Amino acid sequence: MVIDKRQVVYQIYPKSFKDTTGNGVGDLQGIIEKIPYLADLGVDMVWLNPFYPSPQRDNGYDISDYQAVNPLFGSMADFEEMIEVGEKHGIAFMLDMVLNHCSTDHEWFQKALAGDTFYQDFFILRDEPTDWLSKFGGSAWSPFGNTGKYYLHLFDQSQADLNWRNPHVRQELFKVVNFWKDKGVRGFRFDVINLIGKDDVLVDCPINDGKPAYTDRPITHEYLHMMNQATFGEEEGFMTVGEMSSTTIENCLLYTAPEREELSMAFNFHHLKVDYQDGQKWTIKAFDFKELQGLFHQWGEEMSQGNGWNALFYNNHDQPRALNRFIDVENFREEGATMLAASIHLSRGTPYIYMGEEIGMLDPDYDSMADYVDVESLNAYDILLEQGKSAAEAFAIVKAKSRDNSRTPMQWNATAHAGFSTNTPWLKVGKTYQTINVETEKTGKIFPFYQRLIKLRKNLSIISEGDYKAAYQNSDQVYAFERQLGDEKLLVLNNFFAQEVTLDLLPDYRAGQVLISNYPDVGLGQKLTLKPYQTLAILSTRN
Ligand code: GLC
Repeated sequence: MVIDKRQVVYQIYPKSFKDTTGNGVGDLQGIIEKIPYLADLGVDMVWLNPFYPSPQRDNGYDISDYQAVNPLFGSMADFEEMIEVGEKHGIAFMLDMVLNHCSTDHEWFQKALAGDTFYQDFFILRDEPTDWLSKFGGSAWSPFGNTGKYYLHLFDQSQADLNWRNPHVRQELFKVVNFWKDKGVRGFRFDVINLIGKDDVLVDCPINDGKPAYTDRPITHEYLHMMNQATFGEEEGFMTVGEMSSTTIENCLLYTAPEREELSMAFNFHHLKVDYQDGQKWTIKAFDFKELQGLFHQWGEEMSQGNGWNALFYNNHDQPRALNRFIDVENFREEGATMLAASIHLSRGTPYIYMGEEIGMLDPDYDSMADYVDVESLNAYDILLEQGKSAAEAFAIVKAKSRDNSRTPMQWNATAHAGFSTNTPWLKVGKTYQTINVETEKTGKIFPFYQRLIKLRKNLSIISEGDYKAAYQNSDQVYAFERQLGDEKLLVLNNFFAQEVTLDLLPDYRAGQVLISNYPDVGLGQKLTLKPYQTLAILSTRN
């Protein structure tokens, strides 16, 4: 399962990408229609968020049938066509596997509720709940019918955690993975996969809502190895990525070291918590640059030294747009978008682009709570009010942090509904669609810059294969790193602020070659001044 490290992944949130039926919801035919656009961007693999039958309490992460297509998105024939058209354009697909929990509408849960003991053992049932909290608010346990028992749900009440200790559960889930693999997909993204291994005896844990009691438990590695062996392990070039909630470098090295045969790479989220007050998401705080820089350096170096592999990203369907978090978008949207892109596309790991990022899309700037639909956001709003926040304060927090920020319809052009649909979309379009859309941006600054970054990774093995080393660690403004492969060296400098900054350029690079920058006419010398949000990559020609 050796992956091609030159590849770049593009994430599509199917509900919001392109609607071809006029029902206000994106669909598989919409994805097929846009495959040439993705090929033009240059990506190799497309990760799709869940499109399986689901009551949509958590937008498809509550699956009621693992082996079918939700008619809302199309049919199995559409899926097969999508794989075929993708192949013609050099684009493979990565599917989202939600194996930690299933919907309470799933027949396994329904049979369990009806008293079938075989299926009751598919879930985690206890007489006494622990003190763990659901990640979406409230207790992580709810009454299991009228049995007097409780079932575990680390997420919404409608998402019941599956009991991986039961071999029948593993067998069923591996069948699901093989079903989609046999349909021709070339990758999987495993949802909250480091939460699957629960201890036999569950105990109270007052720290951090109970997370240490169920996160990264040692048995998780065994389950991942079993899954690897039972499903994708022998497939050449197959790409797997685990979403690792609140994880550690130590564990991510184990999850991703090739010889352990677990997964090809891991997403961690520490760098996206640098604007949390006291580790709490539902707060407002300017991002802490030193913390971000330190995390990037630590993960970059330790994963490099230990032969692990990172998934590199700033955006996904659970995060507000990075531009709104890290950049002065009023004045420097294009500079900021291109700098952020270079800071991960030139780094060590596999870069992920979340739809709309390549055109510099922003948070939608909604005016009222009525515009939000995400279950986590709605719960958070109520909890903030209960905690004594005013309606205006609670709204401001939801507006900054809601997952709906990234889930708004893709902005294709300046026509009604941003060219996403002929009808009112399921989630309101962002306010900026008339100026920020694919039609205008394709010849703008951001989209072509992404194309160049993707090409560079394909052409230069120092980018895809080189080691990672921190640089300019004392800078309060610049996140910089070096890559090294054999005698070759590359320096990447990223100014994370709207102020200029002057550095002493490392001697090896003073006569180097500028590989890429988001400003024209860069002169190298002993002193180097970086402009607002400037990114600059220099190949050393001295060896
Ligand atoms: C992951 C998904 C998120 C979902 C949750 C529960 O974090 O990315 O969207 O709500 O898992 O499945």
